[in-house]
Amino acid sequence: MMQKVMEIALKRSILIPSNELYSPVGGFYDYGPVGKALKRKIEDCWRDLFLRREGNFEIETVYILPEAVLKASGHLSCFGDPVVGCSKCGKKFRADHLLEEKGNFTCGGMKPEQLTKEMKEKKIVCPECRGPLGDVGWFNLMFKTNIGPTEGTTGYIRPETAQGIFLDFQRVFRSHGSKLPMGIAQIGKSFRNEISPRQGLVRLREFSQMELEYFFNPSSPKHPRFKEVENEKFIIYTREEQKKGSEKCIELTAKEAVERKLVPNEIMAYFMAREMQFYMKLRIPYDVLRFRHMLPEETPHYSGGNVDLEVKTSVGWVEVIGNAYRTDYDLKSHSQSSGKDLSVLLEDGSRVIPHVVEPSFGVDRTIMCMLEYCYREGGGAERRDWEWFDFPAFISPFEVAVLPLMKKDGLSERASEIANSLREKGFDVIYDETGSIGKRYARADEIGVPYCLTVDYDTLKDGTVTIRFRNDGKQSREDSKTLPEKLHSLSEGNVVCLP
Ligand code: GAP
Repeated sequence: MMQKVMEIALKRSILIPSNELYSPVGGFYDYGPVGKALKRKIEDCWRDLFLRREGNFEIETVYILPEAVLKASGHLSCFGDPVVGCSKCGKKFRADHLLEEKGNFTCGGMKPEQLTKEMKEKKIVCPECRGPLGDVGWFNLMFKTNIGPTEGTTGYIRPETAQGIFLDFQRVFRSHGSKLPMGIAQIGKSFRNEISPRQGLVRLREFSQMELEYFFNPSSPKHPRFKEVENEKFIIYTREEQKKGSEKCIELTAKEAVERKLVPNEIMAYFMAREMQFYMKLRIPYDVLRFRHMLPEETPHYSGGNVDLEVKTSVGWVEVIGNAYRTDYDLKSHSQSSGKDLSVLLEDGSRVIPHVVEPSFGVDRTIMCMLEYCYREGGGAERRDWEWFDFPAFISPFEVAVLPLMKKDGLSERASEIANSLREKGFDVIYDETGSIGKRYARADEIGVPYCLTVDYDTLKDGTVTIRFRNDGKQSREDSKTLPEKLHSLSEGNVVCLP
């Protein structure tokens, strides 16, 4: 499935391998026009649900951070993966992945020495040339650079967007009401020098994150809107089941998950319920979504408890969100290292270093899951023999394709006018006049356009156009004057086949 999805994504330039003209380097993908539009709409949907509707703030911070920041955050000492090299071909691999691929085995939290021992016992050899592997070492995943021409001014490209938020927190807090709780978010690129990038968009070296840092008073770990979601259900994969090696999960409401201490507090449970709503809006079904309570040995250095949202895909369960209870770890560390007091003054006169719950979403992995779950083959009134994407109308890269039946007799000109007038009304429109109408329907389906408008000789006479619905391939006739209203109502109601 993943291969099929990647093939169509590359064929339609939804994704483009970066630096393709030169020797390819793993872990980098560009987004073509369709992919970029899809990405932008997913990010905007996230903004709408997690920022606008919640009254949280968005900021934008820099990519390059001086060494002192990442020393304080712990990334310099703790942010790495175990690496092993082949003494014959010299290639390097993730030691834990080699072991895990060998069988039913998880290496979460194992030290390099333990991994070396396991690899020797299991007689693991180089997957490329079958040569002998050396001892396991530790590889820091950050890209290092020099800031300016003077040697010794070390900087790193940020491995998460979160650090910039912690650095700016106090200023944003003071200028935006000085009240807790306060959510500050950032959407942007993060960079990790992954040892073995793989599986398309799953493990990239340059990827996008949507991160929200929710700052709250530790004496009141509550979310003001928790009541709205307390009865929402989700599936949890507990630590106990993971330790037993079983895949069994339990279904709980947000309230029950807090009561049973499977999540650290109400705030995290609140976001978990909203995350389910977000992914289901993107057409990822409820029963392929599970929250995995990370084992203590896998939990990141900054976290007082992590619950990851995972999606079941054709390449296994993929983590799309890391939910972390970061406590006051980051603000305290930056306070100590910089010598600046990062506590805040509350209305009641008390001072506190806020605690933080962080939902951290991977945009690229979300797109990959969406591509898999929206992928369809054939079907419809035309008994099509092509693949297509069943994107929800509100998130489709283009809502409408405008297609003149012929290029002659003024049909192109009329179709261009209709396309432009729809663009003026705010629609994302693609115009296509090349090839047979059947081929154009296929091209529009392949990039998930929900509605095709065909402009024909009747359009010139009576102003009507044909709307073809992507999902069932059926058609109806509409007056071009009332098209914007019609398309808005279809798109908002997410109607992608004839009602
Ligand atoms: N600030 C916390 C943080 O960065 P994380 O679990 O390391 O936490 C959060 O990353 C999310 O970012 C992951 O759930 C995943 O969706 C995405 N992500 C992390 N590493 C990635 C990579 N190498 N390629 C693509 N996405 C990645």
